[in-house]
Amino acid sequence: MGEGISDYTKFSVDLRRHMWLSGVDQELRRLIWQIAVTGKYISAKIHESNRKLAGIKNIYGEEQLALDRSSDEILKNQLKFSGFVREYASEEQDEVIQIGQGSESYIVTADPLDGSSLVDTNLAIGTIIGIHKASVFGRGRDSLVAALYITYGPLITMVYSAGKGTHEFVLNREGEYVLSEENIKMKEKGDIYSLGGLRKEWTEKHRRFIEDLESQGYKLRYSGGFVPDINQILIKRGGIFTYPALTTSPQGKLRLLFELQPMAFLMEQAGGMATDGSTPILDIPVVKLNQRCPIYIGSKYEVESAKKYLEGEV
Ligand code: AHG
Ligand code: MN
Ligand code: MN
Repeated sequence: MGEGISDYTKFSVDLRRHMWLSGVDQELRRLIWQIAVTGKYISAKIHESNRKLAGIKNIYGEEQLALDRSSDEILKNQLKFSGFVREYASEEQDEVIQIGQGSESYIVTADPLDGSSLVDTNLAIGTIIGIHKASVFGRGRDSLVAALYITYGPLITMVYSAGKGTHEFVLNREGEYVLSEENIKMKEKGDIYSLGGLRKEWTEKHRRFIEDLESQGYKLRYSGGFVPDINQILIKRGGIFTYPALTTSPQGKLRLLFELQPMAFLMEQAGGMATDGSTPILDIPVVKLNQRCPIYIGSKYEVESAKKYLEGEV
């Protein structure tokens, strides 16, 4: 690249300027920026694993770590050196890990690589992050100060909120995150639905809710990757994603702390809603790290309609 603007933007000026202009606290700005940059390293790991899938070992002939575990290592190490993080909680770890001195401002939660089983099919996958100012045990609404996810698809994108709206950035060919969608605002009602869980294991109430959507002509959009499935609803500004309570797993599949809380934060900041069918996800206390919870997330009309069915009003 030539001189001037392209050199200047090497430090993701767009992302940093956006956070600065939105009045995001300085430490939080640096932390979000650092996590966004870490997405580039995780993406490089994903590419490396493609070589492994093609039957090429690494140059030392070593066994490679599973992608989700190496993504976890990358994130943990980056956060350790940020100087702003006292604790790290990850879907890949059994307990909260102390990574700072104890006086740092933030606790970070991560699903370092969501949808890792989709890697071999070349569908999009992602990283989900929650940034908390207080203990993660309790309501997300009391501790979360920011959330973000990164999608690894045809493009790498980063969607963040620090409590001042939800914004999308796209990683360009120069390696810069460039603002692509500012202040994403959900419509009242969408026209797509994204459904996890086997139909034969649905509850009666959930089945009636889904049949209502189907009778209205909602289009099915489910990739099996939580990050791109939620991203589709946010970027299209409407619709619903649900992974409901199932007869075989009344708490559904997805994890409250690592997966649901960050997405609920981003969705609420975009004017949408996220509940377990009745209670907002951000009001459900976390009592254990790997706690699961059903979810209905998206635009208001659909999430409120789900609530009516699940609470037995319809
Ligand atoms: P992870 O790869 O972190 O274990 O999560 C996978 C999740 C999520 O991406 C998706 O929404 C869900 O699993 C899909 O589940 P089904 O295979 O039951 O549809
Ligand atoms: Mn996951
Ligand atoms: Mn995962």
